[in-house]
Amino acid sequence: MSTPVQHLFDLTGKTALVTGGSRGLGLQIAESLGEAGAKVVLTSRKARDLEEAAASLQDKGIDTRWIAADASDPAEVRRVVAEAMERTGHLDILVNNAGATWGAPMADHPLDAWDKVMNLNIRSLFLFAQAVGKASMLPRRTGRILNIASIAGLAGSLDMAFIAYATSKGAVVNFTRQLAGEWGPHGITVNALAPGFFPSKMTQGTLAALGVDRLAAAAPLRRIGDDDDLKGAALLFCSQAGKHITGQILAVDGGLSAVHQGA
Ligand SMILES: NC(=O)c1ccc[n+]([C@@H]2O[C@H](COP(=O)([O-])OP(=O)(O)OC[C@H]3O[C@@H](n4cnc5c(N)ncnc54)[C@H](OP(=O)(O)O)[C@@H]3O)[C@@H](O)[C@H]2O)c1
Repeated sequence: MSTPVQHLFDLTGKTALVTGGSRGLGLQIAESLGEAGAKVVLTSRKARDLEEAAASLQDKGIDTRWIAADASDPAEVRRVVAEAMERTGHLDILVNNAGATWGAPMADHPLDAWDKVMNLNIRSLFLFAQAVGKASMLPRRTGRILNIASIAGLAGSLDMAFIAYATSKGAVVNFTRQLAGEWGPHGITVNALAPGFFPSKMTQGTLAALGVDRLAAAAPLRRIGDDDDLKGAALLFCSQAGKHITGQILAVDGGLSAVHQGA
């Protein structure tokens, strides 16, 4: 007996924790999961941004909570997961999205910036997955983890000097595959999105420097990403529709990585 497709994408009764959910790609994904019926918990550092983001989701009828915390601090991650569990009872979906970049040529890249990028972009994924896995997904033998990598994690770039960022995103790719292997037998899927260029606070400077038209022209679809472009892919990986998919990295980049690896 097959299941109607609407039911496969329905997240009613599910709870999603979205890191870096206060703006940009995290907020887009939170909106997608919320519109599909999930209860959403947003986390990032700035309370005011979280409050605004939560209000914008609540206006759309999405049951939203938020917890302010620094994702690169292990004690803070433990607190977020404990509070989220206390407030929702279970976590079915973890979106590991919070991330940061640092632009500097290799020869001058500061060590503290390397550590900062690594601690957020990859160590925090380890911390969140471990905490959510132990608190909710492993005991309930079900879960969806969606990591946000980048096309910068698929190959090197000729245009951009961001060695820590590119390294961290490469690590996200293989973290995803390894954890998929370990937690598949426990009913937990682990996948990643590798976005191309999307307008956000993080990419403001890059888009201005490289030019949106030039970046769009390099992609087969002749465009950069918009406020809808991650919604479908995120929902697929986080719903029953994706129950037979794990360990996969999906580039959502207008085809850029298919023709210009890592541009
Ligand atoms: N935009 C793109 O073109 C693009 C392309 C490929 C991949 N990505 C990836 O997509 C993810 C989101 O990027 P974005 O473009 O949406 O960036 P963004 O607009 O700068 O958003 C980053 C989010 O992460 C939060 N954050 C930053 N540092 C944090 C910390 N230490 N602890 C907790 N939260 C923290 C921010 O809130 P606070 O500052 O208040 O903490 C914000 O909610 C990142 O992993 C990025 O690498 C983006």
